[in-house]
Amino acid sequence: PKPVTLPGLLALKRERQPVAMITAYDFPTALAVDEAGVDIVLVGDSGAMTVLGYDSTVPVTVDEMLTLTKAARRGVRRALLVGDLPFGSYEASDELAVATATRFVKEAGCDAVKLEGGSGVPLARAKAIIAAGIPVMGHVGLTPQTATALGGFKAQGRTAEGARRIADEARALQAAGCFCIVLEAIPAELTEQLMPSLDASLVIGIGAGPATDGQVLVLHDMVGLGSGGTAKFVKRYAELHGPLVDAVQRYAGEVRDRAYPGPEHSYAMPEAERERLDL
Ligand code: KIV
Ligand code: NA
Repeated sequence: PKPVTLPGLLALKRERQPVAMITAYDFPTALAVDEAGVDIVLVGDSGAMTVLGYDSTVPVTVDEMLTLTKAARRGVRRALLVGDLPFGSYEASDELAVATATRFVKEAGCDAVKLEGGSGVPLARAKAIIAAGIPVMGHVGLTPQTATALGGFKAQGRTAEGARRIADEARALQAAGCFCIVLEAIPAELTEQLMPSLDASLVIGIGAGPATDGQVLVLHDMVGLGSGGTAKFVKRYAELHGPLVDAVQRYAGEVRDRAYPGPEHSYAMPEAERERLDL
């Protein structure tokens, strides 16, 4: 399959062909989502929660994210691979932002990086990373790295002022040259009114209604693996936790009953060798 490119994604936008994006954090899930034909794979810092078990995305380090991202890289053959810059890895200076983004490209093989926020410091960092030659995906609305300041994990832009702020941030990210902007947890009406002014960047929604150029979901949430995925916008396409527990329960039961392994799971010795055997 031909690899997805930035011009290819923007062509899909122009043709009004919706773009499918999803997260992955390791080799087997990356293989699976790439085989499923998604266009963009994000190694989200949501992996802090979904696969590392932290209770927010804030504690995850660059080294931890790079380990997850390298594993995903080995499984993604067609989709565009985006690395998520974790909290604290880009805010302090343009130099830090460029250095961190460069690690995601050079060490983990990312095609682009993502960061949160669309005004002030994050906007400046997006510009610096783009100027260094690395494509940037922006992210506004509910931004989990700064959720405390936003009043927790809840929809954003539900007041006229809040909506205006998100619109300004998204447009600023577009003007800065972000190839893509994620809108998270904002009213569908806001997205619909905002879309006509976002014609240069690909716009991907998560809990932002149907008007965007595409959608993203957290893999573990949409397949029911782990304890997350309770937000209103998460649609469950599978419930994998139960079958996983069931499989391991049956395995453990069969081990205890000596029902596993059977002869079909065991190696045999050639007859002649068995006869010569003397231990
Ligand atoms: O970390 C993540 O998975 C994300 C997506 C939900 C956009 O940022
Ligand atoms: Na994220």
